[in-house]
Amino acid sequence: MCGIVGAVAQNNVIPILIEGLKRLEYRGYDSCGIAVHLDRKLQRSRSTSRVADLEKQLATSGLTGFTGIAHTRWATHGAPVTHNAHPHFSRDRIALVHNGIIENHDDLRAELQALGYVFESQTDTEVIAHLVDHMYTGDLFETVQQAIKRLTGAYAIAVFSADEPHRVVAARQGSPLIVGLGDGQNFVASDAMAIAGTTDQIIYLEEGDVVDLQLQRVWIVDVNGRSVEREVKTVQAYSSAVELGPYQHYMQKEIFEQPRAIADTLEGVVNIMPELFGDKAFSVFQQIDSVLILACGTSYYAGLTAKYWLESVAKIPANVEIASEYRYRDSVPNPNTLVVTITQSGETADTLAAVKHARSLGMLHTLTICNAATSAMVRECALAYITRAGVEVGVASTKAFTTQLVGLFLLTLAIAQSKNRLSEEQEQAHLKALRHLPAALQSVLALEPHIVAWAEAFARKENALFLGRGMHYPIALEGALKLKEITYIHAEAYAAGELKHGPLALVTEEMPVVTIAPNDTLIEKLKSNMQEVRARGGQLYVFADADSHISPSEGVHVIRLPENYGLLSPILHVVPLQLLAYHTALARGTDVDKPRNLAKSVTVE
Ligand code: F6R
Repeated sequence: MCGIVGAVAQNNVIPILIEGLKRLEYRGYDSCGIAVHLDRKLQRSRSTSRVADLEKQLATSGLTGFTGIAHTRWATHGAPVTHNAHPHFSRDRIALVHNGIIENHDDLRAELQALGYVFESQTDTEVIAHLVDHMYTGDLFETVQQAIKRLTGAYAIAVFSADEPHRVVAARQGSPLIVGLGDGQNFVASDAMAIAGTTDQIIYLEEGDVVDLQLQRVWIVDVNGRSVEREVKTVQAYSSAVELGPYQHYMQKEIFEQPRAIADTLEGVVNIMPELFGDKAFSVFQQIDSVLILACGTSYYAGLTAKYWLESVAKIPANVEIASEYRYRDSVPNPNTLVVTITQSGETADTLAAVKHARSLGMLHTLTICNAATSAMVRECALAYITRAGVEVGVASTKAFTTQLVGLFLLTLAIAQSKNRLSEEQEQAHLKALRHLPAALQSVLALEPHIVAWAEAFARKENALFLGRGMHYPIALEGALKLKEITYIHAEAYAAGELKHGPLALVTEEMPVVTIAPNDTLIEKLKSNMQEVRARGGQLYVFADADSHISPSEGVHVIRLPENYGLLSPILHVVPLQLLAYHTALARGTDVDKPRNLAKSVTVE
């Protein structure tokens, strides 16, 4: 993870770097720092608080510079304390920031210590700074190209030298890095959002690229040291999309944006057609005999939900695997499988590695459901559906999840159609239901005041259980994840039928049990599971469809969703769970948008 931004300009770069850090804070916020080049000297300021604190520190110190690098950290090696915060210096000559993990840092550290280098931090990053200093020839571009040959692992780095004003050199291997082209000023950053508003001319560096950034030129060499031209893309400015507007938190804003995000994701879907996923999708969908979904976290739960759709509507076997597990286990590859990755960021290291692994096993049909059109994952996969959630700033995923579900439902229909398993009448009925989703979601969002009342009770708890059945079991998992990640309440989810096989032992009068109760074919079974909880004194908090015939009684609290939504019901039922987590976090006073220990984009293994 971690966010990097660097600039070479004719004016003071501190405001650009600070703005960049604010926009990159989603990548990690354990500490942050800036280093600039001033009168052939390195100067830096670091903070173990947020970027806003660093900004105040800089305003007081009056630090300025025309060349600089900055970093926001998600700690891997070494605690989040000032001496581990980036930028790291070597012998007051080299300043360096890094995102990723250097696997051979121990060996390199021993080697550099033997050469007399003194380490001030526990980070793997400081090793690179000293290595660059040790190998420094007076030409930083040349030196970095040689130094990275000694590194094993994943990294993006940006570095400058006190001896070379107006020059920043950056390199990437396994972690994202972009170059921004300006007029007499150039930038490097972990993503284009960092410099949106300053330039929209972006180069996406490729694996192994090293870039030499100067005032009037940008020079890139590839992994073999050959000079290369990379395509310059004009990206849309994101600046207005990240304004908070009338909301208190980004998560709240993003929950309430879901009707719009889903409408945007469906824009342009006039009919169901495989071509929504790419030109070659029809022939691919005809050839495949199974689907393998690879994803992490919330995106994995979207995949679990889609398994129910794929098998019941498209009648195609579907497996869903946690990307970080799949990539390291022995599996039996089937070349006729469609490998589907689901990722909001498109940069998740485990998911990227998993799809590469699948390809190395001969599974060449790849498709991604992704929210970032220019991300590594979209470049990696042959087919894609871009969800239009817009930038998601809150670390806890909300609108990305529901738009992923929309993309996955469309995929289900497109596969079904390609295999002649979808009648015209069914297609029209599904399309109608999809188009009604934004309005249906508005009615669910209107339940917020009832959920606020429940949140007060949850805020006093340290444990919670979530129950669901069928395609709402993944929604229970997602509800529990939302609660734990932003409130720090220990929450676990179970398929309701599993309760009696062990977890029932946890149920006492102290235990809140959130139950997702859509009026589907499993409702009577679910009611029996609820009785099992009540018989042990557990407090039920039930989200029931209006026609589920579940009424409030002692120990049974009920919020009714306005309508039963059939196959798309998971998309509606997750929303009250997001609101419950949000309002519980508010009541507990936790940092909703930046929960402890987490980061938005997980670009390390
Ligand atoms: C939880 C959450 C994470 C992400 C996971 C995958 O709220 O956001 O679990 O879903 O890190 O991220 P992407 O979708 O970017 O691959």
